Order: sequence, then structure tokens, then C-alpha cells
Amino acid sequence: MEFDSVSEILRGKTGKISVHGWIHNKRSSGGVAFWILRDGTGLIQCTLRKDSVKNFDELENLPQESVVEIFGEAKKDPRAPEGYEISVTSVKILSKAAEEFPIGRKEHGPEFLMDNRHFWLRSREMLAITRIRAKVLQAAREWFDKNGFIEVHTPIIVGAAVEGGSTLFPVNYFGQKAYLSQSWQLYGEAYIAAVGKCYTLAPSFRAEKSRTRRHLTEYWHMEAEASFCDLEEIMKVEEELITYIAQKVAKELPEDLKFFGRTPQDLLKIKTPYKRITYDEAVEILKKSGVKFSWGDDMGADEEKILANKFEQPFFVTHYPKGVKAFYHKPDSKNPKVTLSNDLLAPEGYGEIIGSGERIDDYNELMKSLKERKMNPKDYEFYLNLRKWGTVQHSGFGLGIERLVMWLAHLEHIRDAIAFPRLINRVTP
Ligand code: 4AD
Ligand code: MG
Repeated sequence: MEFDSVSEILRGKTGKISVHGWIHNKRSSGGVAFWILRDGTGLIQCTLRKDSVKNFDELENLPQESVVEIFGEAKKDPRAPEGYEISVTSVKILSKAAEEFPIGRKEHGPEFLMDNRHFWLRSREMLAITRIRAKVLQAAREWFDKNGFIEVHTPIIVGAAVEGGSTLFPVNYFGQKAYLSQSWQLYGEAYIAAVGKCYTLAPSFRAEKSRTRRHLTEYWHMEAEASFCDLEEIMKVEEELITYIAQKVAKELPEDLKFFGRTPQDLLKIKTPYKRITYDEAVEILKKSGVKFSWGDDMGADEEKILANKFEQPFFVTHYPKGVKAFYHKPDSKNPKVTLSNDLLAPEGYGEIIGSGERIDDYNELMKSLKERKMNPKDYEFYLNLRKWGTVQHSGFGLGIERLVMWLAHLEHIRDAIAFPRLINRVTP
């Protein structure tokens, strides 16, 4: 049988309806039971009256998360939490849940909710996040598609590091050493000679030893690479893409954003071009604000927070020193101590959401960079050889999807930007 969806009713479908779903919440008093029904498209209040529903006593005692088919009448009701309610005439029980839904009580600590993530997924919070995440990716794909980037996919089990050895996850690949991918970038650089401009969405892995609000060990990484593209041009790609995503989420999911205290207007007002400061300028700002920071130091969450509190919309930090960036970053010919690199930082203290830059396109220079870092050129044979046949100026970037969602939705912790977070101390559920 065809059922109506809760979302249709919330959009104004009234009269005789039938819906099915889970009893999200319940309370009753004096012969009236109120259920909040969840059907995957939304939540709606259902009212059951003892004098008009046959098996009222049985229904009143149905545990939370039982699955039911509901027949009744939908109507506008300003007193109901969502503005509509269903006046129930009959109910068919499809599955009776066990007593005491593990996360049924009102207050729980974050660790408990993480242990019960498979149930917490059903919360209004996670529903909003799930929709925001999906919208972010939909918008990103739209933007890439409109701008001539093709989506490509490459292996997750790989032979070499991209972002340094200290965060590599080893895999025993039939006795041969392999790793979980930290970044698609090296394959992206191979692909551009075939397709010009490309992007991917894939999990990336970082064996981060630190416990912070913004690090996962497994995260979703959207990366792009473009040929015939310099630092300034790749920054344009980044700011256009981020603006497009932010506006689409703000326009299409204002209620989900407001749920976390994000005013959609904050995102709608974002405009390109974003402000650009150099690493040198960032150092000056940090020194003035009284932190101990010298030229050549790497910026961590604390430093980025200080910078990111000074901006109201995303901004770039460019020209990082060679020492804090990976081997593939192209030195600036005007000042070889720094690289043609950029990070995009989100405002309001959030910090880095994109890492990016121009790549070394010369074989000898790349070989030199590997050797300076005591990396084994054998591990990068295919990557080096790309510089022998058809090398070209090119740039690219990596965007952390959870970092982006965290900022857009104004979340406190990155773990809430993903359904089943992988953290240093957590691989289940
Ligand atoms: O800055 P990263 O390490 O840069 C790269 O991996 C480049 N190879 C990307 C490229 O140019 N194709 O990572 C890129 C982004 C960061 O800006 C951040 O948003 C995210 O990936 N990221 C993480 N997100 C969650 N947890 C972690 N442990 C992350 N590490 C990086
Ligand atoms: Mg980075």
C-alpha cells in the first residue's frame, strides 16, 4: 500500500492520510496519548484519544521505537511542534520494540551517545547533519560539473605517503607493505594529463595521535586537480566552490542550520574574492596577539583559531615556508624559502578547511625535494615520471568534508559532522 510521507504533510497535505514509521517519542495524560512519529522524511505529532482509538490501552503502552502504520486525519495545528498534527483513528503495529530504548532518556553524555551512535542516528540532530552533508556534496558536484571538472576514482590501498610518514596507517598487503590513502592527490596529478581538470570524493586516513575537536582518523576528502593552473587560479576555484556550497545549504536547508544555532544569513552574505594574507602576515598577527610563534613554525588549531577569529568569512593564508609543507609544493621563484601554497581557513575560530597549492612540475626539482626530506624516490616512481612526459604547470586542493560541515553547521566537535566517527580511541560502532 502507498503511504503518505510526513514531509508532504508538513508541506501542507491535510485530510485523510496514512503514514508509517517509528514512534520517536511519546507521552500521555488523561486518556490522550501523544506520539512523535518519524518516517525518515520528518517528524510529526500524532494524537490518540481513548474514546476514538480501539486498542488505546495497548497502544499507550507501546515502547518507543516500535514501528506502526497510522491512519487518521492530518491538520494544521499551531500548538503542535511542527505546526501540523495527525488525529489518529486506527493503528496497526508492525513491530513492537523492546522496553527502554537505550538512548530514550533525555540527557546523555557524548561518550554514551558515541557508544550508541547506531541509535543516535535517529535523532533530530543527526537527521539535520545528514541532510546538510548530503546537500554539501550535491552542491559541490553541481559546481564541479558546471565548471568542467570530471569526477574520478583511484585506490584507497596505496604504496606511499602523500602527507608525511607520521600519520600513515599501514596495511599488510599479502606480505607487502602498503598504506591507507592519506590523499588522492598523486593520482589526481596523473589524471589531469588525461582529462585536464578532475576531482574526487573518497575517504582519507590519518593516524592522528592527537585528540582534538577537528581531527578524525578517517574522513571524507574532496580533492581537485587542474592543469594549466597557478596558485591564484586554484584559489579562485576554491572560493567559488565554497561560496556556491554555503549559499545552497543556506537557501535550501535554513531550518536544519538554525537547529544548531547557525543563522543562514551568515552564509548567504559570503562573497568572493576572499581576503588573502601571506604566512608572513599571519606571523605578525600572531606575534601581536601575544602567542609564542616564530617564522617557520607550523600553525596548529590554537594559532588558526586566533587568526580565524579575526575574519567574518573564509580567508586564505598563502606562501607557507617549505618546512611546514609536503614535498610536492612548488617553491616560490621570487623567494624559494616559501612555497606557492595556500590554506583556506573558515572564520569564527574554525580554521583550516582546505590545503592547497601549486605542484612541482620539474623532474629534477621534485627529485631534489624528495632527497632533501630523505624520502625514497623509488616509492614515487610513477609520480616522478609524470614530470618526464607532458609535464605542465598545475595546482590542486583537498577539502575536508567534515571540517566544512562543522563550520557550516556551527558544530563544536568534528565527530558530530559524520555518522560513525573514527577517532584515536574509537573504531565502533
Ligand atoms: O592539508 P591536507 O593534509 O592536504 C592534503 O592532503 C593535500 N594532499 C590535498 C590536496 O592538495 N589534494 O588535507 C586537506 C584537508 C585539510 O584542509 C582538512 O580539511 C582535511 O583535509 N583534513 C582532515 N579532516 C579531518 N580529520 C583529519 N585528521 C584531517 N586531516 C586533514
Ligand atoms: Mg593541511
